[in-house]
Amino acid sequence: MITVVGSLNMDLVTQVERFPKKGETLQGTSFTTIFGGKGANQAVAASRLGSEVEMMGRVGDDPFGHSYLTYLKQQNVLLSNVEPVTHFPTGTAAITVSEDDNTIVIVGGANDAMTAEEVEKGKSVIERSSVLLVQLEISQKAVEKAIRLGKESGVIVILNPAPFQAFPSHWWELVDYVTPNEHEAAALRASADFHSDFEKKLIITEGAKGASYMINGNRELVKAPVVKVEDTTGAGDTFNGALASGLDQGLPLQDAISRAVAAASLSVTALGAQTGMPDKEELQTFIKGLSL
Ligand code: RIB
Ligand code: NA
Repeated sequence: MITVVGSLNMDLVTQVERFPKKGETLQGTSFTTIFGGKGANQAVAASRLGSEVEMMGRVGDDPFGHSYLTYLKQQNVLLSNVEPVTHFPTGTAAITVSEDDNTIVIVGGANDAMTAEEVEKGKSVIERSSVLLVQLEISQKAVEKAIRLGKESGVIVILNPAPFQAFPSHWWELVDYVTPNEHEAAALRASADFHSDFEKKLIITEGAKGASYMINGNRELVKAPVVKVEDTTGAGDTFNGALASGLDQGLPLQDAISRAVAAASLSVTALGAQTGMPDKEELQTFIKGLSL
């Protein structure tokens, strides 16, 4: 079983041919609201791949929040401790997708109500898990509480340091894997308290190239297949959810990583963070097709 402690956002996605200039009004080509937020994206990715997933987070007591809770149930994500809060709106992400890039503006809202005290209430859920997955879209105090509880109960702890923030160096002792993208990895390595020992915990997502990890003292790249890119939003989340699901299902690290790379590749072929996330069968068919 996997526990995800993290964010839920409603993604407000506008497609454009190009980004507007400062002060310019531009016609977009489409608009849609899609479920997002790094925490929930990762929970859904893992659930689609057949893992039992519990999510802890917060939405607002508003239409976005209520429809999110209904949707998560349909996605077989158990809601442990996901309650609507009345004093904040559901988190939002205003996303603009152009032909080859995107921009995202997040307003945390109810995600900020997921405090360390609230995480503590879910202690028994974390203790029952095989894998704990966290990101940096809720407060660092809440994340620290979660990874501490995970460490204490011998759970595999994965920290996805996104969106990037520096975090306290003692966190490295509390986590098994840290999964930055290349920019986040560069920022981590540049920090004064980065120790070369931490390198072995880094699983780095490298976009269209794939993902790399340390084996026998060397960094090895697991190559991604070539796909037609529609929207890369949520590719990292798909990777993290799939990685957690692979480890939860007992796959060796290397296999869990290659499955996660394949899942992330499929996810970028559809608009929206969660739309293109494969289920177990779709992923198996895709992987089979690649090895033919
Ligand atoms: O990682 C993608 C996610 O980041 C989006 O779904 C958006 O909600 C932002 O949190
Ligand atoms: Na996508």
